[in-house]
Amino acid sequence: MQVLVIAVLSAALIMAVVLLVMNKRRSGSVCDADAVINNIMTRSSIRAFTNEPLIDSQIETLLRAGMAAPSARNKQPWKFVVVKSRPLLRQIADSLPNTRLTSAACAIVVCGDMTKTLDGVDRDFWIHDCSAATENILLAAHALGLGAVWTGIFPNPDRVDKLRGLTDIPESQIPLCVIAIGRPAESPAPKDKWNPENYRMIE
Ligand SMILES: Cc1cc2nc3c(=O)[nH]c(=O)nc-3n(C[C@H](O)[C@H](O)[C@H](O)COP(=O)(O)O)c2cc1C
Repeated sequence: MQVLVIAVLSAALIMAVVLLVMNKRRSGSVCDADAVINNIMTRSSIRAFTNEPLIDSQIETLLRAGMAAPSARNKQPWKFVVVKSRPLLRQIADSLPNTRLTSAACAIVVCGDMTKTLDGVDRDFWIHDCSAATENILLAAHALGLGAVWTGIFPNPDRVDKLRGLTDIPESQIPLCVIAIGRPAESPAPKDKWNPENYRMIE
């Protein structure tokens, strides 16, 4: 009888430990998911920055996030130009006010590399690829406590030409957008864009 009780209690104890470990693992992954989803849902475009410079490790993290993006057939048809020079940032801001670089600490120009695109009708998938890289950079910036805004260049030919001239982008590359980045000097509330009319489900 005593042996039976010890066996049952031991089994219950082992079960409790197993459940505890499983629950801890599960809640750990839920926490990670919460953090990722929260980062996506709380991002907002930031267009005003303090004059604090970025540190190089932050810029490398942003570039790593950009290059981690998916791309059609993994072509990675992108090139990134990082502009830290204050006079050049000002010049770009003067020439292209939409880039919001007046107070930004740095700009990342996301370019499509036409030597690496898919062929024929699939060529323009480079736009999807570079857009995915851009969004990764925006989300990484937000996760680092930085502010950023995606500003459009391509397909506006005037913007493409001006930026190409100012940042020496070769003809083999097309600047898709400029991401203005810095320490945020504003904290706009994230816009609630949830709209059930914007999707349909096929079951
Ligand atoms: C393709 C694209 C081009 C954009 N161009 C500009 C721009 O030229 N200047 C600007 O200030 N914001 C620009 N934005 C940012 C949008 O205005 C912004 O994402 C939108 O208003 C939604 O606000 P949110 O980013 O805070 O959610 C652009 C965004 C995208 C995706």
